[in-house]
Amino acid sequence: MTRVHLPSVDSTQAEALRRWKANPGQPIVVRADTQTAGIGRDASPWQSPKGGLWFSIALPMSRPTAHYADLTPPLAEAVATTLHNQFALQTKVKWPNDVLIEGRKVAGLLASAELGAGPPAVIIGVGINANFPASSLGNNLRLPATTLQDELHRLVDIEPLFDQLVIRIQELVEAGASTSAHRAGT
Ligand code: BTN
Repeated sequence: MTRVHLPSVDSTQAEALRRWKANPGQPIVVRADTQTAGIGRDASPWQSPKGGLWFSIALPMSRPTAHYADLTPPLAEAVATTLHNQFALQTKVKWPNDVLIEGRKVAGLLASAELGAGPPAVIIGVGINANFPASSLGNNLRLPATTLQDELHRLVDIEPLFDQLVIRIQELVEAGASTSAHRAGT
């Protein structure tokens, strides 16, 4: 899978889609150190300062769209579990896509579908508040925020986190497609 790491972009979600359209069918991960127009759930703005882990993965949809409908909660569980495993943090999922620590949001994700003229894609965007203080975020947040730095009182290495999440997301997208195919009896 192609990996791209940019210093800054409007939104990795938008950039992954642009690159998917430029190279149709080619899976890609786009990560950025900062986003100038990060997108949250319901098209709300997502603050993405330097120090966070912000990335999107575009993967081919090998099956009809319906097979990918229920991906968001298991993806959120995967993010929560990975944070727990790597940092021993007590993470919880607030359905469908918020990852919380003691009621404060540490991560969120988006799953969208590209169903244009080219090959269809699922685009998964993950945002993790990592190495910055939550106090640097503005007040207009849907939920109170926390960060890995605030929880652990140190800076963390986000590279293993990124690597693990890319693997888990690919596994879940592939497994999700085959599981719902099985359920549907096709
Ligand atoms: C939410 O909980 O509201 C969803 C947040 C998703 C944010 C990530 S950061 C990387 C990717 N690019 C975006 O513009 N949004 C997602």
